[in-house]
Amino acid sequence: MGKGKLAKFADMERYENVFQYPYSVVDQVPFEMKGRWHEDYFHNDNPIVLELGCGKGEYTVGLAQLYPDMNFIGVDIKGSRMWTGATLALEQELKNVAFLRTNIEVIERFFTDGEVQEIWLTFSDPQIKKVSKRLTGTAFLERYRKFLADNGTVHLKTDSNFLFTYTTHVVSHNNLPLLFRTEDLYHTDGLDDETRRILSIRTYYENMWIERGLNIRYMKFGLPKTCSLEEPDVEIPVDEYRSYKRTKHTSRDTSK
Ligand SMILES: C[S@@+](CC[C@H](N)C(=O)[O-])C[C@H]1O[C@@H](n2cnc3c(N)ncnc32)[C@H](O)[C@@H]1O
Repeated sequence: MGKGKLAKFADMERYENVFQYPYSVVDQVPFEMKGRWHEDYFHNDNPIVLELGCGKGEYTVGLAQLYPDMNFIGVDIKGSRMWTGATLALEQELKNVAFLRTNIEVIERFFTDGEVQEIWLTFSDPQIKKVSKRLTGTAFLERYRKFLADNGTVHLKTDSNFLFTYTTHVVSHNNLPLLFRTEDLYHTDGLDDETRRILSIRTYYENMWIERGLNIRYMKFGLPKTCSLEEPDVEIPVDEYRSYKRTKHTSRDTSK
């Protein structure tokens, strides 16, 4: 039988690759590693990549295995999910992996200007009703710009046509450099071997969506430091299906 939540939480308390700063403590405890991840944790100068909403951390661990010369940090608020990736990274002695348990709304408190090179958003909640909660919305892009290198890359891998279409509008409306985009990742020709290898890492949610026969969509874009960012004014058809373990997003057919 698998471990229960309490046992996982106890493990997380003593794991050296886990940092826990939920809302309840983030204001009380200063985060002294802001600006010091290279020196104090990774002990190298290699680029740092974040996976936001990492769940069990499949991308964080999978990319760390593929790229030992880069550093990866998985961020999520759900400790029992994160436990899976953190445990695997410890078992495999991956020194280029860390996990940060916090709310992404306060992510800029943990990294200083230019400390992060890339961000992965893997199967993020589409947040159909609330644009301010969408991880590719301008409110979050503004947060990321505080610590992402100039023109740092944001990757979005998703099942959600709503989130994908919305993000496409955010990118085009703000003239952000679109580096790659496909609406059907596993039926796209012409991907080079490296891209195919990276994109073949499958997360827990991704496997569930694939089982249901849904397309997996992927895009990556650059995020310049200085351009002004504005929300696009578009109505987007909402996803027709319901998410696992979530109630129906909205009774409307479209949303902004
Ligand atoms: C749909 S799950 C996807 C998990 C994983 N990336 C995967 O593909 O299996 C979304 C994850 O994002 C996390 N999440 C959503 N909003 C968050 C927020 N504001 N702060 C921290 N974590 C958040 C949830 O806890 C959840 O684990």
